Amino acid sequence: MSNVHVMNHPLIQHKLTLIRDKETGAKEFRELVEEVALLMAYEVYRDLPLEETEVETPIGKATCQVISGKKIGIVPILRAGLGMVDGMTKLIPTAKVGHIGLYRDPETLEPVEYYCKLPPDIHERDLIVVDPMLATGGSAAAAVRFLKEKGARGIKLVCLIAAPEGIARVRGEHDDIDIFVAAVDEKLNSHGYIVPGLGDAGDRLFGTK
Ligand code: PRP
Ligand code: URA
Repeated sequence: MSNVHVMNHPLIQHKLTLIRDKETGAKEFRELVEEVALLMAYEVYRDLPLEETEVETPIGKATCQVISGKKIGIVPILRAGLGMVDGMTKLIPTAKVGHIGLYRDPETLEPVEYYCKLPPDIHERDLIVVDPMLATGGSAAAAVRFLKEKGARGIKLVCLIAAPEGIARVRGEHDDIDIFVAAVDEKLNSHGYIVPGLGDAGDRLFGTK
């Protein structure tokens, strides 16, 4: 059964409030999305396996732990998912980044694929799909389906704001993945926007409106 983790850490909630504010400009919006992604990554990576190692401190030998050879892949859904990549890779700089381009058809609200470039060894990696918005869930469900068709296992989905409809759709189609969100909002409006949400994430990140 897929698990939904709502991250209510005060730092995440504070920054999310600033992100939602319509007075927040593109520069600050981008910085905040990256910061929240980094804070969420901390929890998302919680179950990374560790192995023992030894280092020499200035005083003596220390038996310590390091992350053991787990391969990670970050997969942003273009465009808005790009805003979360640097926050995620700051904590795991060796992660490879794959890209899936999807846009929502404004009439049907269904995702249309226009780009895909993934690391060749995705079936050996733990994949983290990132997108700030989980609205109808169509884009995220399609991205996960796509990755599974290419042999990926161990997929997690990380979004800033979700609508209940989006969570239900992803859980309905993919009951084996963990979903991490910073907030679950009230509902979708008739245009498929999350209410109250933050508006159009792509436009606010890239200043295209
Ligand atoms: C937004 C958002 C998600 C999608 C969520 O992208 O970044 O990818 O909508 O909606 P859904 O859950 O109903 O599929 P959009 O299609 O606006 O494209 P963009 O990122 O290029 O702006
Ligand atoms: N995409 C967005 O960018 N915002 C929403 O509220 C829904 C989909």
